[in-house]
Amino acid sequence: MKLCMIGTGYVGLVSGVCFSDLGNDVICVDWDLKKVGYLKKGIIPIYEPCLAELVLKNYKNTRLKFSTDLKDSILKSDIIFICVGTPTKKNGNGADLSQIFNVAKEIRRSISKFKIIITKSTVPVTTGDEIEKIISRKVSKKLFSVVSNPEFLREGEAIRDFTYPDRVVIGTNDKKSNKILKNLYSPLVSKGAKYVNTSRRAAELIKYASNAFLATKITFINELANLCEKIDVNIEDISIGMGLDKRIGGRFLRAGPAYGGSCFPKDTKAIATSADKFKTNLSVIKSVINSNENRSSLLLKRIFEILNGKVKNKNICFLGVTFKANTDDMRDSSCLTMIPSLINKGAVINYFDPTGEKNIFKNIKNVSFSKSINSAIKDSDLIIIHTEWNDFKSINFKKFVQNKKFKIFDLRNIYSSAKMKEQKIKYFAIGC
Ligand SMILES: NC(=O)c1ccc[n+]([C@@H]2O[C@H](COP(=O)([O-])OP(=O)(O)OC[C@H]3O[C@@H](n4cnc5c(N)ncnc54)[C@H](O)[C@@H]3O)[C@@H](O)[C@H]2O)c1
Repeated sequence: MKLCMIGTGYVGLVSGVCFSDLGNDVICVDWDLKKVGYLKKGIIPIYEPCLAELVLKNYKNTRLKFSTDLKDSILKSDIIFICVGTPTKKNGNGADLSQIFNVAKEIRRSISKFKIIITKSTVPVTTGDEIEKIISRKVSKKLFSVVSNPEFLREGEAIRDFTYPDRVVIGTNDKKSNKILKNLYSPLVSKGAKYVNTSRRAAELIKYASNAFLATKITFINELANLCEKIDVNIEDISIGMGLDKRIGGRFLRAGPAYGGSCFPKDTKAIATSADKFKTNLSVIKSVINSNENRSSLLLKRIFEILNGKVKNKNICFLGVTFKANTDDMRDSSCLTMIPSLINKGAVINYFDPTGEKNIFKNIKNVSFSKSINSAIKDSDLIIIHTEWNDFKSINFKKFVQNKKFKIFDLRNIYSSAKMKEQKIKYFAIGC
């Protein structure tokens, strides 16, 4: 099939390359000239395991193309996937849909034969209705069908998640589009993915509901961790004991910092705001948002306690700054709140991240990047394990930290408190 992915970010690039690997002709379009220029040279602008190899393979066999020409790419394709960003509005909590609606206006200029137009971007319920309205102002409804096909991949596991999804959700009542899309996704369905055909509005809501539920699970266990810290109970025991119940499940039930990333923070706000528009109060989700927004302040308070209230001139090392491991994505990472607060209190921050130095911290006084774990931890008074990279799981702290009174605050509960005690390391973890 001939596909066009509009927006070549995490979702557009990963799903585009995976579709091409399944034998489709795919054009990945982006208006970012620099990004497309890099991709044409085989340089991958994001960090995602195994992505580079797959891009190169499919670019070489010409099933995968990159372009900045939206009109031409749409004309050449039968199925158009909209994969542009839907960030939080600058003034408010709702989703900013300007990128989506701009693309809809572009698409309507280039429809001369039947096209399926798919929103893969995460969009509030009824956005598909709006897109249909925009396009039908210039194009007969017989020439297009607007379908919702939300994407559930996770950064860091994106190729695997796209190729082996739990489910493929297709929101359309149009039989012809459903048949074509069932065929497109048949290689994934034959490997075990469930194919779920719903109304367009239901598909839109399934995506937000799923993300809001996962964010709720994380926030639930984070709050229980706060309680555990006061009653000498280990939160890891609670996670295991609860998670073994198949009705609950152990995933997304590990306490840690505030949830971050490009999806959960914005999607929880967007679903709550769009429900308000329909005069429905999603109070559980609103309290999750509130609790998560307070989480970094609570952790900062704990850092002050660990340092006995003396933060000024303390060397604090962050191991990992991205919101989770195996990605270079800094969007809404909790350290974007924590590092500036610590700097304001006079701390000196040094960090190491396996995906390299971050532009956002360049030129900030008293924040520096180290090129290795050992050089990052060397002069630390406090080491904060912020992101759960495998690289951080077996560090010989005693050998490499020069200040023998150093402390560790492990936000991911990677290490065993007992073993740290044996080594006489002052070790603090979440929820214990
Ligand atoms: N990142 C994830 O893990 C993930 C997972 C599932 C769903 N989603 C959803 O998918 C959507 C995209 O997310 P992302 O993380 O890939 O975003 P992104 O910011 O990484 O990529 C979006 C791309 O769209 C391009 N773009 C914007 N307007 C354009 C236009 N008019 N023409 C051509 N290109 C244009 C931008 O230049 C950018 O490269 C969002 O709605 C997001 O919520 C993201």
